[in-house]
Amino acid sequence: MNEENGRPENNKKGKNIILVGFMGCGKTSIGRRLARLCEYEFFDMDAEIEKRNGMRVSEIFREKGEAAFRQMETDLCAELSKTGGLVIATGGGVIKNAENMRLLKLSGNVLYIKASPEHIYNNLKNDRTRPLLEGGDKLKKIKALMEERRPMYESRSDIIVEVTGMRTPRAAYAIRDELERMNMI
Ligand code: S3P
Repeated sequence: MNEENGRPENNKKGKNIILVGFMGCGKTSIGRRLARLCEYEFFDMDAEIEKRNGMRVSEIFREKGEAAFRQMETDLCAELSKTGGLVIATGGGVIKNAENMRLLKLSGNVLYIKASPEHIYNNLKNDRTRPLLEGGDKLKKIKALMEERRPMYESRSDIIVEVTGMRTPRAAYAIRDELERMNMI
């Protein structure tokens, strides 16, 4: 039994692996591969919110507002706190809310996928699905938002893996190796 929450101690497979990081760092693409490598199920928070609303994230922002989207994110974190055996790709803004992180950490370990602004820009230069990066100089926006969020990504995660310059398959192996080294899978 876990003394803190009174629930049965998770075996390692029973825990979730929660991926956080800036938009475009590869949480979804790396997460899918990582799940296959580790024989976990993959779960994508943005995709789930889109499915439940029948709308893309950009439409939710436009029609219901960012605050409504953030509430849906927190509600989903609460649901996920009771799950296990998943690789979870979060949305890039999930770390802004300490309550989200408290809830997610109940179910497993949080891993920050770290990448440089240039790496992110390269992945997102033709993307039109990130409302927070629309309009104006995209690289500048990435740099500014990353500066604001970096302390949260770093302090609210359990481990950090740098993937700058790596393609998806290599990043997935690097993360798997680090999780193994840390005895988290
Ligand atoms: C956001 C990141 C997006 C999505 C929404 C807000 C953010 O997810 O949740 O556009 O605040 O960083 P990705 O990180 O998958 O792009």
